[in-house]
Amino acid sequence: MEEIKIFAPATLANLSCGFDVLGCCLDSVGDEMLIKKNTINEVKITRITGQLLPMETNENVAGVAVQALLKSLNSTQGFDIEIDKHIKPGSGIGSSAASSAGAVYAVNKILGEPFTLKELIPFAMEGERLASGNAHADNVAPALMGGFNLVRSYEPLEVISLPSPPEIRVVILHPLIELKTKDSRAILKQSVHLKDAVSQWGNLGALISSLYTEDYELFGRSLEDKIIEPVRSILIPYFDDLKKIALERGALGFGISGSGPSVFAMCKGDVVATDVREAMQLFYKVKGIDFDLHQSKINTQGIKIL
Ligand code: HSE
Repeated sequence: MEEIKIFAPATLANLSCGFDVLGCCLDSVGDEMLIKKNTINEVKITRITGQLLPMETNENVAGVAVQALLKSLNSTQGFDIEIDKHIKPGSGIGSSAASSAGAVYAVNKILGEPFTLKELIPFAMEGERLASGNAHADNVAPALMGGFNLVRSYEPLEVISLPSPPEIRVVILHPLIELKTKDSRAILKQSVHLKDAVSQWGNLGALISSLYTEDYELFGRSLEDKIIEPVRSILIPYFDDLKKIALERGALGFGISGSGPSVFAMCKGDVVATDVREAMQLFYKVKGIDFDLHQSKINTQGIKIL
């Protein structure tokens, strides 16, 4: 195989109670990437459309992730990487993760799959390290594996794939402000109150259980965040109003998507999701705030070959 074209999906990290350990894969928004072998023994970013991003390999998350993969194989094979970017950087739906996960997935395919999908996660995490200063896996794991994923441990890395209840729909509203993950991590407190930690791990355990039992109500009740949301929500225009509107319209739960500024509403079925989407949309229009809006199923496949 000389080249491959793929769809690299957006992802939603944290899911309120699972900061840095929980994420799921979306299917209605993502980037397209074309990766080709070259003959110059170098990884090159040859084209980026849609967004202004670094073309220098060492400064580009896709370039860094592919270099990490090739280094572990002692391979001198070069690749040209083209990215057609549809996920806005700094939106909170895994823009950097899509590029780094997509790039290592494609290169692995071209090389005859020396690695399993799970084994690709640490390479893609190097892209996250470049983008945010922290090599978290809660976006890259669902981008590569599809569905819901839990990072049980970082050292050593252990990622667990979880079931996806079929009727879950996600509404994502992205206020058009750019919030760098690095910045929204910098404002977080480094210690937590025991009472809040108890609430958080209770919710996380219950959320995992709800995925196995397809208990949508429990899933919704577990989307609670006592630790991160109170700090980060201040950066999101009308966060509390949006949450109230979404829950009143029947959303199961509502929270910050990744490091923000996007917010998500989890819903059961398309009818409720459409209603919630329209209510949030109307509210932001009245307030005069520019936004993007996505409505998505859970993508259980992850990256797709085009
Ligand atoms: N878990 C990360 C954070 C996701 O919230 O900072 C950001 O990509």
